[in-house]
Amino acid sequence: MYLERKNIAVAGAGYVGLSLAVFLARRHHVCIVDVVREKVDMLRRGESPFENRDRPVIGVYRLTMKQGSDNFRESAVLDMIDSLRKKGAEVLIYEPLLKEALPGCRMERDLTRFSTQSDMIIANRLDRQLAQVREKVYTRDVFGRD
Ligand SMILES: NC(=O)c1ccc[n+]([C@@H]2O[C@H](COP(=O)([O-])OP(=O)(O)OC[C@H]3O[C@@H](n4cnc5c(N)ncnc54)[C@H](O)[C@@H]3O)[C@@H](O)[C@H]2O)c1
Repeated sequence: MYLERKNIAVAGAGYVGLSLAVFLARRHHVCIVDVVREKVDMLRRGESPFENRDRPVIGVYRLTMKQGSDNFRESAVLDMIDSLRKKGAEVLIYEPLLKEALPGCRMERDLTRFSTQSDMIIANRLDRQLAQVREKVYTRDVFGRD
């Protein structure tokens, strides 16, 4: 079947968008956009943004225990981070109040980048900010209220 060559734009160079774009580019002119600058730069260099990671990235969304609190020195999640690191996971922290990264952990200040890089996200509360990546979130806040 003859298909006219089209100009196609794809938003989001993730697993779905990039696979689709590569497939469509066999017959069409495809332009792909992404909010993560590093991803776009890699694609421009002809590199794949999909990492062959040999260990999972566990995202930790906020270190504070209570909403509105700025105290995370006593936070129970610190013990969890320690255990995860001992088990070989890479821990990525999203905590806007944190001034510098915790030893052995990476820190991300941009929520979209944090969500994209995390294979799974641990959160004390099911914050509205996490709605778009709900399927990655593990929380004890099963009723979405604390
Ligand atoms: N992967 C699957 O098997 C699957 C199945 C069903 C539905 N989905 C849905 O399809 C969508 C994409 O899934 P995915 O696995 O490719 O996710 P992904 O996280 O791998 O990719 C999403 C990409 O979109 C980019 N992005 C986010 N906001 C953007 C914006 N405003 N403009 C441009 N780029 C933006 C991100 O940086 C990321 O690169 C999600 O909504 C997901 O829930 C995925």
